[in-house]
Amino acid sequence: MTDAVTLKMTLPKIPDIELVALEGLDRLARHLGIAEEKIGEARIIVTEAVVNALEHSGENNPSVRLEFTMTTNDLSIFVRDYGKGFEPASVEDPDIKAKLHTKNKRGWGLNLMKSMSDDFRIESNRNGTKITIKKLLR
Ligand SMILES: Nc1ncnc2c1ncn2[C@@H]1O[C@H](COP(=O)(O)OP(=O)(O)OP(=O)(O)O)[C@@H](O)[C@H]1O
Ligand SMILES: [Mg+2]
Repeated sequence: MTDAVTLKMTLPKIPDIELVALEGLDRLARHLGIAEEKIGEARIIVTEAVVNALEHSGENNPSVRLEFTMTTNDLSIFVRDYGKGFEPASVEDPDIKAKLHTKNKRGWGLNLMKSMSDDFRIESNRNGTKITIKKLLR
């Protein structure tokens, strides 16, 4: 196993900034020779997590903290925002049939992230939200 590589960044709330996070993820993956299919899933997880964090980030501090640690075996992702937080247990699972007939097609992010992760933890309170994700890469 190669040594772990870590990338930490603070993302400002500006359009398309999640692309910077994805570029960083790709660079780490290329360095370690990670399979494309695993990175494709990791990209989806990171996009959904960062977009949620930016959407809900606080007015006083609209930035989002992001950390990746990658080895040839696994990837840890940590995302933190300084928003008002939420109660994850009270978010309802999306219903695909119901969504077909309504205008609101949203509500898939958390579901997608969980389904593609090997471990998914949310810690949220009125000072913000921290999400810690682990994904196996082989
Ligand atoms: N970081 C966060 N801070 C506060 N609330 C959050 C955060 N992440 C998610 N939520 C809440 O959980 C709900 C579900 O999030 P999820 O990503 O599944 O759906 P969405 O963002 O509403 O839509 P989509 O991701 O499909 O565009 C959000 O609508 C929001 O109320
Ligand atoms: Mg979302």
